[in-house]
Amino acid sequence: MPRSLSGRSFLKLLDFSTEEIQYLLELAKDFKRMKRAGTPHKYLAGKNIVLLFEKTSTRTRCSFEVAGNDLGMGVTYLDPGSSQMGKKESLEDTAKVLGRMFDGIEYRGFDQQIVENLAKHAGVPVWNGLTTDFHPTQMLADVLTIEEHFGHYKGLTMVFMGDARNNVANSLMVVSAKLGINFVACGPKDNMPDDKLVKTCKAIAKENGCTITLTEDVKKGTKNADVIYTDIWVSMGEPDEIWEQRIKLLSPYQVNDAVMANANPGAIFLHCLPSFHDLETTIGVDIHKKFGLPEMEVTDKVFRSPQSKVFDEAENRMHTIKAVMYATLK
Ligand code: CP
Ligand code: NVA
Repeated sequence: MPRSLSGRSFLKLLDFSTEEIQYLLELAKDFKRMKRAGTPHKYLAGKNIVLLFEKTSTRTRCSFEVAGNDLGMGVTYLDPGSSQMGKKESLEDTAKVLGRMFDGIEYRGFDQQIVENLAKHAGVPVWNGLTTDFHPTQMLADVLTIEEHFGHYKGLTMVFMGDARNNVANSLMVVSAKLGINFVACGPKDNMPDDKLVKTCKAIAKENGCTITLTEDVKKGTKNADVIYTDIWVSMGEPDEIWEQRIKLLSPYQVNDAVMANANPGAIFLHCLPSFHDLETTIGVDIHKKFGLPEMEVTDKVFRSPQSKVFDEAENRMHTIKAVMYATLK
């Protein structure tokens, strides 16, 4: 058992030991069992949290809200346009004010430095709900989903396909290194994770008996994969003009039948969501009109196949976020 996480912020997985991440996963399993059994768990009644979103969200916002309510807390949501932060009030002042009123603060937005600074000044735990660099709560849900499916995660191989330098890919590389999962970033060389982060993760991976591999080769990269993971090709905060270039660059890394067939038999497909796998979104329709693509980072067939565990993964966001809030606020 790790020492208590009480009072800690959850900003990036690099700040947490293997044992601490395992402890959060165990807690999440307990909370999932309680939720399924209908056992009340209002362990944090009387506390209040605020959710600061500078980017849009479905899963992360709802997970924090439902988990907060289940734990008995008051939850306040501030949307991208309705706080003074950064416009009329400095980050430091905002953090100090919110820290006086709330027991915990969730932040989704841009630079990692913003969430790090919030934590520095708030005096209460701050949780990273996604920055340009990292998306650490997502990875807890991903690993929980992998463990539920395979019964374990250590020694498995996870391949991230596509924009391998985005927040999700970075965080997957870190969590893999920490938990002994072999990680492969499979994408074009200009979309590979930052050298410094790769070096740090390789050193952590060595300690935990696993490997970090970067490859542009889809065939080699996806061979022996137990988990094929992808994410959208243009992340929030990136300009619309970049779509054309990304489509050209990342189309060879689409997750399709050929990719799944090349992976291990029994491999699963994960995606943090939202996903462009059909023409049921306005952006999907727009891209189809401009570039002719009916689906993007994953085919609709793979997305809807039995190998796809994306909705288990989405549900697990709530159980794992509950674990993070409980561990840091109790
Ligand atoms: N996966 C994820 O973070 O989804 P949202 O953007 O809907 O929160
Ligand atoms: N890379 C994506 C993740 C969304 C959950 C983004 O930042 O938009």
